[in-house]
Amino acid sequence: MSVCAVVPAGGSGTRMGGKVPKQFLNLNGNPILYYTLKTMQDCGIISELILVVPEKEYDAACADWLGNPKIVTKVVIGGEKRQDSVYNGFAEVSPQTEIVLVHDGVRPFLSSRMIRESVDAAQKFGAAITAIPVNDTIKRVDSSGMVSQTIDREGLWRVQTPQAFQYAILKEAFTKANSENFYGTDEGTLIEHLGKPVKIVEGSEQNIKITRPEDLEMSETFISKAFPDN
Ligand code: C5P
Repeated sequence: MSVCAVVPAGGSGTRMGGKVPKQFLNLNGNPILYYTLKTMQDCGIISELILVVPEKEYDAACADWLGNPKIVTKVVIGGEKRQDSVYNGFAEVSPQTEIVLVHDGVRPFLSSRMIRESVDAAQKFGAAITAIPVNDTIKRVDSSGMVSQTIDREGLWRVQTPQAFQYAILKEAFTKANSENFYGTDEGTLIEHLGKPVKIVEGSEQNIKITRPEDLEMSETFISKAFPDN
């Protein structure tokens, strides 16, 4: 089975503040992206990895990341939105690929288990997304900060990455989305838009998307446990 990963790391990371996009910020001596890519390499089932970066980082990214970790086989330039970046990466995936795995560069706490289970579920069901059940009470709040509704949390899940897809299904989903200018915040949404099934794989509370400065602080404690040798 051939698995190609597309790693969107093409955002500017404005919610973090500062000039360096968050995926390149340092965490215990390495850029955040390094840990993400290392786990993807160590899981042993990904044969090719396409890294998507901002245009202004392209030259530096080729120098720093191609072959380091050795799993990075291609670097491509991202687009305006996350979905555009994933599409730019996907456009470089060989059509012979069986499964395409998409994972955010700023989620360094994915595990080999999540990758394997996503790939297995995509083989079986066509598309699979990592998610965790919602434990908190969920409210809708209006623009003046007043609660307008309590949402029943039964059956609600918070979506993460990795997400895995059979190549042909993801291609069909992107073709439809692009022709309709339809945007989702993850690729699973594009498969739903196509009317095809999406299987859930259990993620983890630790598999956070590093977005704000406080996420970075929390990650410092996680990282030494997850990567004791780094
Ligand atoms: O913006 P968000 O937090 O959803 O970003 C998730 C991932 O998508 C990050 O790794 C970010 O670098 C990437 N991204 C991208 N291209 C964009 C916006 C975000 O590759 N235009």
